[in-house]
Amino acid sequence: SSGENTGRGALIVLEGLDRSGKSSQCAQLASYLESQGVAVEAWRFPDRTTAMGRMISSYLSCQTDLDAAAIHLLFSANRWEKCSLMESKLKAGTTLVIDRYSYSGVAFSVAKGLDLDWCKGPEAGLPAPDLVFYLDISAEVAAARGGYGGERYEKLEIQKKVEKVFKSLKDTTWQSVDATQSIDSIQSVLREESVKAINECQSGKQLMQMWL
Ligand code: TYD
Ligand code: MG
Repeated sequence: SSGENTGRGALIVLEGLDRSGKSSQCAQLASYLESQGVAVEAWRFPDRTTAMGRMISSYLSCQTDLDAAAIHLLFSANRWEKCSLMESKLKAGTTLVIDRYSYSGVAFSVAKGLDLDWCKGPEAGLPAPDLVFYLDISAEVAAARGGYGGERYEKLEIQKKVEKVFKSLKDTTWQSVDATQSIDSIQSVLREESVKAINECQSGKQLMQMWL
């Protein structure tokens, strides 16, 4: 319609295994939305630019070691340190397209053997996504794409476990997208569903809280 922008922005999350294509899909989705006049920002977790993010980055690159519980809480705190900014952006009408969120937080830690409910605990109360795209690809097919870096979790055995946990986390906000399709086919699904979600938020859909 005529450019009124009174409602809130949508919180849109992309999840999936390493090499599922999240990062390029996120970037393309954000620039498409921007071209359509949507106020939008592309974010990612972990946010490696903060002090906690640097600790996470050092852990992931195997320069430091941390207990599983400690790194879990750091990943979570890295989301909490952005919580008020997330909320104020959304309230001001900006849509956020985020590469990984609490589902990754839980999936990787549970894959390492931590308790599911314990892992969800520190995530509870974060802003809940309006829409989660799960870029669905098997760990084997993702690994066959090549391009794993040397980071801690970029190994087939771990990714297989993570895949299982991800699938158990599926909730009503999730849309699974076959990540073996062409980049363009995936992107067109993301665009269409995102526009719907953005319109719902514009029309007053409430922002919910994660796992409460
Ligand atoms: P990734 O998105 O792969 O970052 P980059 O694109 O910079 O490589 O995230 C890094 C790794 O961190 C990835 O293997 C998933 C893992 N991770 C967690 O274990 N917990 C979390 O909460 C998040 C957000 C990511
Ligand atoms: Mg990665």
